[in-house]
Amino acid sequence: MTITPESTLFQPVSLGSMKLGNKLVMAPMTRSRALLDGDISDAQVEYYAQRASAGLIISEATQVWRIGGGAYLSTPGIYTDEHEVGWKRVAEAVHERGGKFVVQLWHVGRHAHSAINGLGAVAPSAIQTEISTFIGPEGDSEGKSRVGLPHALTIPEIHATQQDFADAAERAVRAGADGVEIHGAGSYLPQQFLAEGANQRTDEYGGSPQNRARFVIELVNKVVDAVGADRVGIKISPGLPIGELGETDPWSTYEVLLNAIAPLELAYLHAMYRIDDPVVDRVRRIWPGKFLLSSGFNGPVTEDDYQEAIERNRIDAAVIGRNFLANPDFVERLLISAELNAAKPEHFYAGGDTGYIDYPTLWV
Ligand SMILES: Cc1cc2nc3c(=O)[nH]c(=O)nc-3n(C[C@H](O)[C@H](O)[C@H](O)COP(=O)(O)O)c2cc1C
Repeated sequence: MTITPESTLFQPVSLGSMKLGNKLVMAPMTRSRALLDGDISDAQVEYYAQRASAGLIISEATQVWRIGGGAYLSTPGIYTDEHEVGWKRVAEAVHERGGKFVVQLWHVGRHAHSAINGLGAVAPSAIQTEISTFIGPEGDSEGKSRVGLPHALTIPEIHATQQDFADAAERAVRAGADGVEIHGAGSYLPQQFLAEGANQRTDEYGGSPQNRARFVIELVNKVVDAVGADRVGIKISPGLPIGELGETDPWSTYEVLLNAIAPLELAYLHAMYRIDDPVVDRVRRIWPGKFLLSSGFNGPVTEDDYQEAIERNRIDAAVIGRNFLANPDFVERLLISAELNAAKPEHFYAGGDTGYIDYPTLWV
């Protein structure tokens, strides 16, 4: 299937209250260009504004509270008035250019390093991983250091953490974001609760699939109460082979989760899967709402593949990362089948403007 200007990828789609001009969604991508306290830099405002022709921009993962950051340096927050001012600048810049924009809400759980957030880490269970992270700028002499033993959240702390997501969602919407995406993927805190290897609790938040899904189900409900279901999406990555999750039979848990949150009528579900995986069709059958797919990390995928999946009604929109990263005018290039800039991985997390806001467009 060849992409033409008439292809459905370039046609509008609604996700809850958001009316997208096309079905090319920019994937959430951590870029480590925020200021050290999680404030938004001028370069971030410029970076997102440059990419506003995406149907929707999903922001880089953004911590809902100080302890929820701490896995990587220079990542943004959405829990102080200053953060809110920064995201307002991004929202205005994207809207001025006709784009739509949601903030991805993030809590890294046991991946946090005390040298980064000054606090340490929390998790469903006190299980230390072998994971190491850069605690100084990448490449500097401090190098990588192993994360510590996380504190197992008490029940009141669980409720407070869920509320942190709701408060962050409220801030994001107050800042002018069109909505929020709950980061339930990537082996971070929500996925740590879902996964039997990371969650060995014996209370109502651990054990059975229903209990392991409880944290995320309650979390989604609280965020929906805060900003309305039509502005809330969630990203999942069942069975993701990173982060020492130990998900042996993810579907038993994810079916419980999806069935429980389906009646809320969220704006969308966003999953990371191989595009040719039959699980994509399984999700499509049980999820009644809009379904977005990001396939790139699980194997090679082309825009033609996404176009075909949309034509066949397997998914509703394509979530594309590195091509948007390297091509501010990705949509325009695809429309005329122009050559794409190649992404430069050495600049993904390196800080600075190079490999961030200096990718060329076809027209100035
Ligand atoms: C530099 C980089 C940073 C990423 N950071 C995030 C993130 O913050 N949150 C997230 O959900 N996914 C993150 N991802 C995964 C992307 O959202 C996407 O799933 C992945 O890039 C595959 O799509 P692609 O092949 O089109 O790039 C990141 C990917 C890259 C390349």
